[in-house]
Amino acid sequence: MLPNTKYSPKHQSVLWLWRRRYSFHLGKLRCKWVVYLCFAFLFLIFLLPNPFASRYDKLMIRQDIRWEGISEILEEKEKILVDDPFSKQVKFRRYGKGELSSTRPVLILLYTTIFLTKKYCRLKQIEHIFGETCPSKHRCQWTCDVRRLNEADAVIFHGYDMQYYPGEMPKRSDTKSDAIWILWSDEPHSMVDYSLFKDYRFNWTISFKLNSEVSIGSYGLFQKRNVPQLDSEHRLWIERQFRDRSNAALWFVSNCDARERLQYYQDLRRETNVYVEGYGRCVDYYPMHLCAASSQCEIDYMSKFKYYLSFESITCRDYITEKFFKAFYHGLIPIAYGPERKDYERFAPADSFIHLNDFNRNMNKLANYLLEIHLNLTLFAKYHQWRKTHDVIIDGKALERIRMCELCERLTRVRREDVTYYEDINKFYHEKC
Ligand SMILES: *[C@@H]1O[C@H](CO)[C@@H](O)[C@H](O)[C@H]1NC(C)=O
Ligand SMILES: *[C@@H]1O[C@H](CO)[C@@H](O)[C@H](O)[C@H]1NC(C)=O
Repeated sequence: MLPNTKYSPKHQSVLWLWRRRYSFHLGKLRCKWVVYLCFAFLFLIFLLPNPFASRYDKLMIRQDIRWEGISEILEEKEKILVDDPFSKQVKFRRYGKGELSSTRPVLILLYTTIFLTKKYCRLKQIEHIFGETCPSKHRCQWTCDVRRLNEADAVIFHGYDMQYYPGEMPKRSDTKSDAIWILWSDEPHSMVDYSLFKDYRFNWTISFKLNSEVSIGSYGLFQKRNVPQLDSEHRLWIERQFRDRSNAALWFVSNCDARERLQYYQDLRRETNVYVEGYGRCVDYYPMHLCAASSQCEIDYMSKFKYYLSFESITCRDYITEKFFKAFYHGLIPIAYGPERKDYERFAPADSFIHLNDFNRNMNKLANYLLEIHLNLTLFAKYHQWRKTHDVIIDGKALERIRMCELCERLTRVRREDVTYYEDINKFYHEKC
């Protein structure tokens, strides 16, 4: 007789136990392996160096800005701060005539993080924040210690970070009665929701808009040279660029959502008078990481083309990003699309760039003109004339020092009766968008 395994309690329990153990292990093993595989995958993606990128190490651009070298832009800006009709719609402003509010150093408190990092909190030397040439650098102090809120003369809140920490905002009564509340935000309204901030009535802003209290050098800056370039040197440079650069326009693009500029790019590409090359996910080449920003690869590309498509993703007043300044830096002529030409001319010499509106956004006319430049040295030279007397600054660290100097300069010049605050910060960031 066969043993009745089915009903043998002993046998059943062993089998049952074995199966249970086995499946338990298997289950555990599987789970473990999935975890291991996930880690290995993440390791491959994040930790192993990109085999293609090693050729193209990031290159540091180190530049210096002299406060005196940007006097022209400062003058231009003063006019905007005083006369701008739009500012009057969104800001309350009353200038006092009395004495300066303080002769002792001004304490600036950074209340939030800046893109989740604490900016300048560990820097001991004041020059690293405000720059070597800043006239008032010794009159400003910087702190990140929020316990000093009630001592601070100015409190800075960063827009991007504020969106995520709405509960942590202090009250006006926590600060000195004449403390200046500052919103720092260089993002257009498409990236930060400014309607969230309408209750705060910030006194000042730090932004890309020239009608902000602090704004010069958000993404780039023209600086007057110490000594003008020699004519012979300048001519030699022009002739070489004219010869070596092809009649072609280059575009590096990473954000593919902006449809309108993509359309202009495609229209220009169809023209036979000019060659256009795009680099990025939505244009010719997908692997952007092969030719990252500030890599040798980018520099190699930039040295072969005559024009660069400095197309902004949105068209808001003064929203002119590094795409524009970078082109100058690498010796190209920018073809600008973004705010109006008038806006650009506040940042760059009028005949240093081409604007899509110059041709009513007609790509055929633009292409014909680009060919004209390519064949005519005199015309080409006109676009580079400014290089004799000016430099273009794109080093982010240097730019930030000059902005902080502007902040310090303005803070030390506030008079007791001066009152400024934004009645409609949301409208301010939507100006001419
Ligand atoms: C080149 O351009 C200049 C300036 O626009 C113009 O005066 C000149 O006639 C052009 N030369 C030729 C050969 O087209
Ligand atoms: C700052 O703004 C507040 C309104 O939010 C205003 O009462 C105060 O006078 C302003 N201070 C300065 C110095 O402009």
